[in-house]
Amino acid sequence: MSKVPIWIDSDCGVDDSVALFAAFKLENAEIKGISAVAGNVEEEKTFLNIRNIAHMAKRNDIKVYHGAEKPLILPLETAKHVHGENGLGDIIIEESQVPHETEKAWDVLYRVAKECNGELVVITLGPLTNIAIALGKYPDLEKYIKKILMMGGAVIGGNATPCAEFNVFADPHGAEVVFKSNIEKVMFGLDVTLKAYIDLDDIEEIKEHGSVAANYFYQAVKPSLKFYEDIGMEGKTCMHDTCPVLYVGYPELFSGEVCGVYVETEGKVTMGKTVCDRESNFKFDKRDTLVIFDVDQQKFSAKVKEIVKSI
Ligand code: RIB
Ligand code: CA
Repeated sequence: MSKVPIWIDSDCGVDDSVALFAAFKLENAEIKGISAVAGNVEEEKTFLNIRNIAHMAKRNDIKVYHGAEKPLILPLETAKHVHGENGLGDIIIEESQVPHETEKAWDVLYRVAKECNGELVVITLGPLTNIAIALGKYPDLEKYIKKILMMGGAVIGGNATPCAEFNVFADPHGAEVVFKSNIEKVMFGLDVTLKAYIDLDDIEEIKEHGSVAANYFYQAVKPSLKFYEDIGMEGKTCMHDTCPVLYVGYPELFSGEVCGVYVETEGKVTMGKTVCDRESNFKFDKRDTLVIFDVDQQKFSAKVKEIVKSI
């Protein structure tokens, strides 16, 4: 069976690093490249984090590219309170010695998308800035991208504001470009990612495995338990970014509905909200986003444990 060509765009924080572990282990996919974007922390740090996580997983074969250092219009607002100053919970891991790529993410993404003849699946784990820049610079790019699987948005609630999820809130204008594009989209918003959690027993089980990756995972993920306890999810921590990645290999774990989704880019209170027409009798004309609402949490957490132990 031919492998699905995938491109990953990440603001490599703690949950991104687990998602990258999962991507490295997808048996039905070929990673054509990974691009860094500013989000959880500055782009220079997300770039190095991606490289060093790939190094930890012995995947120095995968090329990593620099991307946007700030959102399209807004100033950069990071999430260091969640991911630490370096983005990986301030855990120091061995550095990759692979020479740095010099081409920019959007230029390589366009070239790779054309080479893949429209089969490329793009997985975004952070703000959508790089994808928006690529679509702006190369207007015909959208016909070469088969679909975009994005961790971002929320039909209900928010984690950056009461109604906006961080990745969309960080760059609502970038997100708007992507949602307005004609690319098929699958949105893994907080509606499903808050159900995609692992618990204290899972974390301890991984710790007992004792590998370099398991020890990193334990040290990086454990502090997030306090963050989730404060939002009423005691003993749990969400693997937001692993959702779109596991969807590539195990779509049966997830379920959703095709909806119309647009991004608020002007509201003082609602900036960054993904407005979805699921609950409305008024439906948008353009309904091309599969919004994921549910995940088999038991199978999800078992897969996360299996993956981290296998790195
Ligand atoms: O809202 C969760 C998202 O914001 C995740 O991608 C996390 O890494 C942060 O980027
Ligand atoms: Ca992320």
